Amino acid sequence: VIEIIAESAAMREARRLAERVAATKANVLITGESGTGKNALARFIHALYVQSQAARDGDAPYVEIDCAALPRELLEAELFGYERGAFTGAVAAKPGRIEAAHKGTLVLDEIAHLTADAQAKLLRVIERKEFERLGGQRTVRVDCRLIALTNVDLEEAVKRRAFREDLYFRLNVVRVSIAPLRQRREDILPLAAKFLSQAAAKHGVRRAVLTKEARRMLEDYDFPGNARELAHIIERAVIIAGGGRIGAEDLPETVRLAAQTKARRLRPLTLREVENEYIREILALTKGNKSEAARILGISRKSLYERMRSSEE
Ligand SMILES: Nc1ncnc2c1ncn2[C@@H]1O[C@H](COP(=O)(O)OP(=O)(O)O)[C@@H](O)[C@H]1O
Ligand SMILES: [Mg+2]
Repeated sequence: VIEIIAESAAMREARRLAERVAATKANVLITGESGTGKNALARFIHALYVQSQAARDGDAPYVEIDCAALPRELLEAELFGYERGAFTGAVAAKPGRIEAAHKGTLVLDEIAHLTADAQAKLLRVIERKEFERLGGQRTVRVDCRLIALTNVDLEEAVKRRAFREDLYFRLNVVRVSIAPLRQRREDILPLAAKFLSQAAAKHGVRRAVLTKEARRMLEDYDFPGNARELAHIIERAVIIAGGGRIGAEDLPETVRLAAQTKARRLRPLTLREVENEYIREILALTKGNKSEAARILGISRKSLYERMRSSEE
């Protein structure tokens, strides 16, 4: 059973959309930075589909293929399969992943990496539900839901003519965008709780708890690697803290440094600091003209000089 943690409004909206589309057979495009939970959401959609009325066929298959992980030549063979003798080394016919996904879900991860050829063939799969294996004459009929995942801007790829517009439109029927974790901080601690349980089970230790300071640091951190980075941070902390309490010292240096920098930035300024800041701003505005600056600030030139001198001390 797949659980999608969604505390923030943005993630709740994404999960709600996923739930709605799950019962249908509509194609889905899931976008989001690396580690935001695209694969997790795709599995969630499939799991709900299987439970729903729409899946009357019993165990609908779930097939995932990472378009970025395979060399171009292999990707097509992997997707569409091949007949014996289609290319050197094709000693026996092999069905592709699309055939394997018949009556189920086909997840195309990193869809932007599809070759032009594969894009054309995939369009035909979507529009006519048919294709041929490499080197094959026989037309194969297939019926599956496509879930495309991408962490790049597909519209931009379309503009560059690196991605077919017609295919893009076909994939983009329902789009679920997952915001970066730093833009939905309410999800950080609930996700951390899930990862704490997972790590405890995986390593056979007592479920650790985060100290208040550790929680605050995590909530403040920007997570360039999103939920995946959080999962790694928690797993590492569980291992070094040995299943007890996880404190700031058990978090990676990147997290601790970020917290320090932030704290410094967030320290309240003194009146003198605000005043100096403002004087610098006005001097910039008057391009260094001190009489003009003094006039705007409502003080004498002499007073301005004094303040400038004391701010340098
Ligand atoms: N909202 C969420 N709820 C539960 N687990 C999540 C959520 N988002 C991400 N994860 C988990 O974080 C990890 C990274 O997510 P993943 O789906 O692989 O990201 P992506 O495919 O976008 O790179 C996985 O272990 C995934 O299960
Ligand atoms: Mg992924």
